Amino acid sequence: MRDLFGDAVFHEPPTEQLADGAILLRRRALPFEAELLAALESVVAKAPFRHLVTPGGFEMSVAMTNCGNAGWVSDRTGYRYDSRDPLTGEPWPEMPASFLRLATEAAADAGYPAFAPDACLVNLYEPGARLSLHQDKDERDLANPIVSVSLGLPATFQFGGLKRTDPIRKIPLHHGDVVVWGGPSRLFYHGVLALKDGDHETLGRRRINLTFRKAL
Ligand code: SIN
Ligand code: FE2
Repeated sequence: MRDLFGDAVFHEPPTEQLADGAILLRRRALPFEAELLAALESVVAKAPFRHLVTPGGFEMSVAMTNCGNAGWVSDRTGYRYDSRDPLTGEPWPEMPASFLRLATEAAADAGYPAFAPDACLVNLYEPGARLSLHQDKDERDLANPIVSVSLGLPATFQFGGLKRTDPIRKIPLHHGDVVVWGGPSRLFYHGVLALKDGDHETLGRRRINLTFRKAL
């Protein structure tokens, strides 16, 4: 059996434990593909992608936007969650129902049944864009996991440990893959290597990543 997108249907999507509390759910987002991409278009129409500046003054190669009650932003004054888009002064677009459904289902699959995200950071990688090793630690309550959804071109995800110097695993992530990390691995360092050029059948020369957080 094949789904709408010509991919084989995975009745039991393979899962891989990356660390204590961290799980990779291969292709978990595929059944949501059409809904996610349509919803993403309306998010981006209201809150366009932009290249944020780090507190150190560097423009990030990854372009970002957000949806939900809070959005992650960076500028010369630091990193924070903001209820409004600094570009428009408007609240961030509402979190689409399909986003919320995928995030809560994937979190539950990974052992986090109470996850109720209020923020979704949307990352756009074009060829060459990368995200250097960092921890997600701007959220108020670190008891909640991070749910990360990959769409479009494949990328190499780096997943380390609690210390920047811990050994780093390199994990290829493909269209539809979902990584969830929480509990003992909630503050693990992670990043994305420079995106290799390519042409994805639905997203072209782009990778889109959705990361769901409970920020407030
Ligand atoms: C992130 O760390 O916010 C994004 C990770 C990714 O793009 O896979
Ligand atoms: Fe992150």
